[in-house]
Amino acid sequence: MPSAERTGVRDNWRLAALDALRERDPGAKAEAVQALHALVRDGVSNGILHWDAQHEIDVPTDLPGRPARPVLVEPRQLERRSMSTPQGRVVLLHALAHIEFNAINLALDAVWRFPGLPDAFYADWLTVAAEEAFHFSLLGARLADYGHAYGDFPAHNGLWEMCERTRDDVLARMALVPRVLEARGLDAAPPIRARLKQAGDDQSAAVLDVILRDEVGHVRIGNRWFRYLCAARGLDPHAAWLTLAQQYRAPKMRGPFNFEARRSAGFDDAELDTLAAQAAPEPATADARLREGGGE
Ligand SMILES: [Fe+2]
Ligand SMILES: [Fe+2]
Repeated sequence: MPSAERTGVRDNWRLAALDALRERDPGAKAEAVQALHALVRDGVSNGILHWDAQHEIDVPTDLPGRPARPVLVEPRQLERRSMSTPQGRVVLLHALAHIEFNAINLALDAVWRFPGLPDAFYADWLTVAAEEAFHFSLLGARLADYGHAYGDFPAHNGLWEMCERTRDDVLARMALVPRVLEARGLDAAPPIRARLKQAGDDQSAAVLDVILRDEVGHVRIGNRWFRYLCAARGLDPHAAWLTLAQQYRAPKMRGPFNFEARRSAGFDDAELDTLAAQAAPEPATADARLREGGGE
């Protein structure tokens, strides 16, 4: 049984999550998150679990921890890619790895930043962080199979920017990150998977299967805590969503939507009907979604 003392990990798990968020090396970050998750999971039965939910943590100035590469550019500067060529697939896998790297950071940020929530909130987002670290490692392995590594291509910073924009309100964070950005991944994964399969890259297609399965759970966690916070503040979730989407400039939702996955992830009939009614006449391509920052 691992113990906090033996591994040198802090006994305040939210501070430990912040340490992992500040870690700059992607491999070390992924390992730190998975080790912390294992420790917390075992700590439940060990009686050493300590979230310290009331602790207000000072905001460090070096967030998020990320490597010198990839170089961050505007989304429109990213090259277009055709998945029919190996180079195109590498660029795509790199874009997905970047989404997962950011997703680790986004989930860790939810763990340390917001005090005063139930322990289950922190445990949920640490589990998400560990699963994102797993996704990142799967994609890193595929990149290595193609002779590349994370950092080899430019990337955009759209996901972390939404994290920054919603840093002062956990309700806005839950509304905008899991329920918009991660939910976009539910829509984007099946067509990307199909194109990888079509190109004969069955191994990468299998990685997309794992990612889609787990992402349904992440969006469900987002919906769970969004509704919890709405109830705690006496807000109607549908009205609150419309207000927050406007206030925080939520990206416009563009179809085609994965209604089945979204339903599994906890969106209700009214929310799915609203999406169906606003499906844009020109559906976004998978490529466009990635360049816009969608996916997680
Ligand atoms: Fe993920
Ligand atoms: Fe996710």
